[in-house]
Amino acid sequence: MKMILLGAPGAGKGTQADFIKTALQIPVISTGNLLREAIAQGTELGKAAQDYMSRGALVPDELIIGLVKEKLASPDCAKGAILDGFPRTVPQAEALDEIVDLDVALYFNVPDAVIVDRMAGRRTCPTCSATYHIENNPPATEGICDKCGETLGIRRDDAPEVVLQRLQVYHDQTEPVMHHYAAKGKLVTVEGVGAVSEIRQRIAEALKIEA
Ligand code: AP5
Repeated sequence: MKMILLGAPGAGKGTQADFIKTALQIPVISTGNLLREAIAQGTELGKAAQDYMSRGALVPDELIIGLVKEKLASPDCAKGAILDGFPRTVPQAEALDEIVDLDVALYFNVPDAVIVDRMAGRRTCPTCSATYHIENNPPATEGICDKCGETLGIRRDDAPEVVLQRLQVYHDQTEPVMHHYAAKGKLVTVEGVGAVSEIRQRIAEALKIEA
């Protein structure tokens, strides 16, 4: 299965990706996580991406498309992959069309007002990238990652003014990607407001997998 997760920043893509990965036994490729790792390691890609990400802008297509192509060519993607955060522009979607025959574009439909609230309470693990919310999806021990025991932090691009900029970029540049897949009959929409467990159930029903 080759699928992409589409939706506004904070729509819940990363939160649900883990469950889909386990159910389908295929890896998740998160371009946001790959870029944050590159920044943490100080690679050329990280240096090039840092300024765009801190402003809430998209990293140029040419940097991202090469990265995704390389990841999709790796042996662990032989049975498919879940792309989280790619494609985010129509040129990225067209580049992906050249590489794989996509099965599903899963779109998380969440209004902007809900997004702003979610981002304000998000906490992330700098080591394993697990995502929590202080009220809606808290870790078992406050401030500590359930998966690896690391101290949780706040993403720099979750600052309120950057979140508004990311939402604007999403409406301008990423919403047309939705229409790209709708026209191909590949778009599956899941209503993304509700408890994490409810969204999980909706996804399971939409994809016909175990919740
Ligand atoms: P990226 O890391 O991809 O960020 P994003 O798409 O903006 O997505 P997020 O990770 O913010 O949100 P999410 O949908 O995964 O939500 P989450 O599950 O965490 O990209 C970051 C940057 O990298 C971009 O701005 C860009 O600069 C660059 N970039 C990346 N890919 C690129 C590309 N292809 N091209 C160019 N540039 C690229 O949930 C959010 C919060 O809500 C959490 O706290 C969570 O616990 C909570 N939550 C989740 N579900 C629920 C629920 N049902 N109810 C209540 N709370 C919930």
